[in-house]
Formats: sequence, C-alpha cells, structure tokens
Amino acid sequence: MSGDFLQLSLQIPVTIKPVTTQFFDQVRTFSDFGETSRQIVTEAQTAAGEPVCVPTFVNEFWTAKQRAAHSLHEISYRACFKPQLPRFFIERLTSPGDRVYDPFMGRGTTLLEAALLGRVPVGCDVNPLSAVLVEPRFSPPTLTEIEARLKEIDFADSDEWPEELLVFYHPDTLKEIVALKKYLLRRQTDGTLDTIDKWIRMTAINRLTGHSPGFFSVYTLPPNQAVSVKSQIKINTDRNQTPIAKNIAKLILKKSKQLLADCTPENFDTLKSVHRNALLLTQTCDRTLQIPANSISLAVTSPPFLDVVDYAGDNWLRCWFAGIDAKAIKITVPKKLDAWQAAMTDVFRELHRILKPGGYVAFEVGEVRGGRVKLEQAVVPCGIEAGLTPELILINDQVFTKTANCWGVDNNAKGTNTNRIVLLRKDA
Ligand SMILES: C[S@@+](CC[C@H](N)C(=O)[O-])C[C@H]1O[C@@H](n2cnc3c(N)ncnc32)[C@H](O)[C@@H]1O
Repeated sequence: MSGDFLQLSLQIPVTIKPVTTQFFDQVRTFSDFGETSRQIVTEAQTAAGEPVCVPTFVNEFWTAKQRAAHSLHEISYRACFKPQLPRFFIERLTSPGDRVYDPFMGRGTTLLEAALLGRVPVGCDVNPLSAVLVEPRFSPPTLTEIEARLKEIDFADSDEWPEELLVFYHPDTLKEIVALKKYLLRRQTDGTLDTIDKWIRMTAINRLTGHSPGFFSVYTLPPNQAVSVKSQIKINTDRNQTPIAKNIAKLILKKSKQLLADCTPENFDTLKSVHRNALLLTQTCDRTLQIPANSISLAVTSPPFLDVVDYAGDNWLRCWFAGIDAKAIKITVPKKLDAWQAAMTDVFRELHRILKPGGYVAFEVGEVRGGRVKLEQAVVPCGIEAGLTPELILINDQVFTKTANCWGVDNNAKGTNTNRIVLLRKDA
C-alpha cells in the first residue's frame, strides 16, 4: 500500500490549515478492528500549481467482518459502494433529521443508509433508472400486498415481441416480461402506478438477467451488467445452454422476501418519517436549483471514474424494461483527466452552494488507468477551486471480498479492496 502514495515529511510547507476537528481525531485514533490508523501525506496541487499536502489515514475503517448491511440494500448496480462506507460518515458527521445528499446516487446506497438512520435523503442521478431503483425502498409494501398485486396482473396480456431477447429468455418467460412491462407503463401513463407497482418494477428490473436460477434469464453476467445480444449468443454457445421457462411472479415474490428480511417495525417507522421530506432528482448534478442553499449537512458520493464504467451500456436491458431511452441519457464519462476535473469542479461549486456552513463532502474515488491516475490527488484542486477545504483523505484498506470489487480496476489483482475518500469541508 505505502508504495501507492507519495509519503512526505510533515516539515514540507502545506497550504491547508491544520484542522483538529472531532472527526479528524476519530479517524486518527481509530482502532475498532485491531490496527491503529497509519498516517501519511498525499501531495497534490491547487489549480494554480501551489503544493498542497493533505493528511491521509489508512486503516480498515469498515470491514466485511462487520454486521452485514441491511437487506433492503440488495439491489445490484454497477459500481455501487458498500453501505458501510456512507454509514461511517453519516454516523459521525450528522444527526437524525439532517439532510444527507448523494449527487451521483446510483442504486441509492447513501440515501437508503441515511434514511435507515433517520436522516432525510436527498439524491440526484442523470439516469432515470436510478430513482426507479431508489424510491420504492423508502416505503416498502408488505409481502401480502405484493403477492396480492402480482395475482391481479395479467401476465398473458402482451403485444410487444422483441424476438432478439430470446437469447436471454424462454418464449413463455419473455411473454410474461413484456406483459408486466405493458402493465407498468400503462399504470404510469394513466397515473395509477402506486408504491406496490413501483416495488414490483424495481424488483423485476433486479431479476431481469443474472448468473443464478433466481433470475428470469438463462445464465449470463451478474445482474448489474447486461451483455449485448451478440455476447449472449456466444455465452449460450460456449455453455451449450438454452433458456428454460421461469415463473416471474414467483421470482419477484422470492426476491421481495429477501429484500424485506431485515425490516423491523422500527425501520418502517423511521423510513416513513423521513420519506415525506426526501427529494430525488433526475438530471445532471452540477445545477440542482430544487435543493435550497445551505441545506445539506453531508454529501457522500462516488462520481463516474473517467470512462471506466459504461453505465448506459450496462443498463440497456433495464432501461428497455422501464421504458427509458438509454441512448438519450447524458452520463458524464470524460476520457481525459482535464475534462473530468472541469466537470467535478462544477459539481463541487454546486455542492458548496447547497452545503450548510461547516457541512462536509465525502468524495469516493479510485485508482484508474492501472494506477497511473490517482483521482484523490486530482480531486483536491477541484474542491479548492470551488471554495471547499480538503480536510483529510481516508483510505479504507480491506481484504478483498467478491461484493467489494466494484470497480474492475487493479484492486482485484492485489486481493484487496481500497476505497479512497477525500473529505472536504465548507467553512463555517
Ligand atoms: C459510481 S456510480 C454511483 C454509485 C452509487 N454510489 C451507489 O452506491 O449505487 C455513478 C453514478 O453517476 C451517475 N451520473 C453520471 N453522470 C452524472 C451527472 N452528470 N449527474 C448526475 N449523475 C450522474 C451515473 O448514472 C451513475 O449512476
């Protein structure tokens, strides 16, 4: 690990005022999992080229050994982070009733964790699929309600016939999928889509394709990454497989049961109390006028890492089912670091506007381009340019687990999973 960072003597002049907030001390003295934090320094530069040294702490701050995350999180999404990451910051930097925001919310890990902890969730994502996956979990229906609604749906009433999808589905299953799609879009158009329908839509989207019998499809890649029709033809040939018929209502109910497994009456009450003030936006996050100035206590987020993940490509089948035109979505995927920094500076300017004085942004980034680009260094000048102070960088260094490998970068090869989080503060 230490080779990854430029370690400097603390004698080198720093342009950041040393801060000794409570959080800083908590991170410095953290030893919940046996080891104490290792302190190093990350060298960065302002946009004008002045050197900036940011205190950096390495430890296992959250771990696979911790109590598993709440079952409601189990909606897969490309490049999602573990719920333990936002929890670490939410618990230490906010109080119940505070607004917690994620400008790149994805499946809504930050928002759901915030809501379960009694904080008001605020989120934004340019892809409409995101709100479709996030919103239903703020007001989960009961299993009885879901079962009753599934019985009411006519799974034979279909008129679309996307033949190319037969590489994923048995003809009977495809018929049921298009019938459910038709039902949901009709309810959406006539304004009768309710919380139970939205839950069913979210769960069906999660079951569309995957690598185990619990999915509607024949064996394919994990559910957050639908392959192209051409690639699926190859998978079917290589594995000598043909899709078998699945009962999609049964699979939706089974997954619903898993999602609801950890829900206590207290969870339902907490979610209900924060849901009415929640705000979900579908747009780019560099201009979010619906969010009042000085209203957010904490943002925990991870942006697109250059062009590392193809969000549009990976979600094409999910978007088809939800009636979303995936090609029309303007996802930020700059190839070049300069363009990425310009886009992130705009995001930080907007975050500066909406953060409360003294509020924080925990900005999670990774190594890209085989470790040649360390985005935590690149983030520092963007934050400073927008008026934020980089307080520290936290590196969670934990033993690799399958679910932790979100990025497809060199973490996998190292057998470790590192999250690098730049913590920035708006002056009080
Ligand atoms: C790394 S993922 C976030 C995953 C999230 N932390 C989670 O746990 O699910 C980045 C997200 O940013 C979204 N995105 C890309 N460009 C955006 C933009 N300009 N404004 C808002 N969201 C954007 C993508 O659609 C994607 O969902």
